[in-house]
Amino acid sequence: MTTTLITGANKGLGFETARRLVAAGHTVYVGSRDPGRGRRAAERLGARAVRLDVTDDGSVAAAAATIEADGGLDVLVNNAGIQVELGTDGAAAVTADMMRETFDTNVFGTVRVLHAFLPLLRRSPAPVVVNVSSGLASFTRVTTRGGPGYAYPGVAYPASKAAVNMVTVQFAKAFPAMRINAVEPGYTSTDLNHHGGHQTVEEGAEIIVRMAQVTADGPTGGYFDAHGTLPW
Ligand SMILES: NC(=O)c1ccc[n+]([C@@H]2O[C@H](COP(=O)([O-])OP(=O)(O)OC[C@H]3O[C@@H](n4cnc5c(N)ncnc54)[C@H](OP(=O)(O)O)[C@@H]3O)[C@@H](O)[C@H]2O)c1
Repeated sequence: MTTTLITGANKGLGFETARRLVAAGHTVYVGSRDPGRGRRAAERLGARAVRLDVTDDGSVAAAAATIEADGGLDVLVNNAGIQVELGTDGAAAVTADMMRETFDTNVFGTVRVLHAFLPLLRRSPAPVVVNVSSGLASFTRVTTRGGPGYAYPGVAYPASKAAVNMVTVQFAKAFPAMRINAVEPGYTSTDLNHHGGHQTVEEGAEIIVRMAQVTADGPTGGYFDAHGTLPW
């Protein structure tokens, strides 16, 4: 039996990932910073709810204690994320506060959750971590004229996801017994982009679900979308 925690799983890509992993037979914890939203989502999914705000040490520690007491964790999906600069003027408008707020959830949140759940993952026979990154984390894509990502004007969100990619490769090197990968879901219609994305959540969750089910002989320290490896 595989036990999986997905942060920010009360809606969007996290919710769809939870739905698919429940169907695949995982015991899934729906992480949600709002207990009511988490409970309602878990009830719809046939999953378990756990309160988890990735920006809050106490909340993350309490979630780890709960899941440890229930028997441990095999798969961690760091999915919770925010994009606060949508609709702003990109580099002309970005402030240190916008950077801090974005990094607090997307980067420090990922590291906070990883750190808290490492002891549980290390006890799993087949530990897996999926860090939900973005194609906007790719220096190659963002700097290739005409390519996907070149026209995106924001600073804080791509910088935060580039940091997530670096966190991914460094953790993967440090913990070779784990499969730790970064994934790009693709531009998907969710609240994060005011439903501007052209993919469905079913399409977007595809690579998250696939990398959450990677086996011990699968890749680690990689960066993937549904079609294969992405350039850093
Ligand atoms: N949609 C896309 O096109 C796209 C593309 C590439 C990557 N991504 C990444 O995919 C992931 C999921 O995004 P989405 O598109 O599904 O967006 P979404 O529908 O807005 O969902 C984001 C989730 O993160 C949660 N969250 C935000 N801050 C949190 C915190 N401090 N603690 C715990 N949970 C928190 C939200 O909870 P609340 O409901 O409480 O706000 C929500 O459950 C993000 O990491 C995003 O960067 C999305």
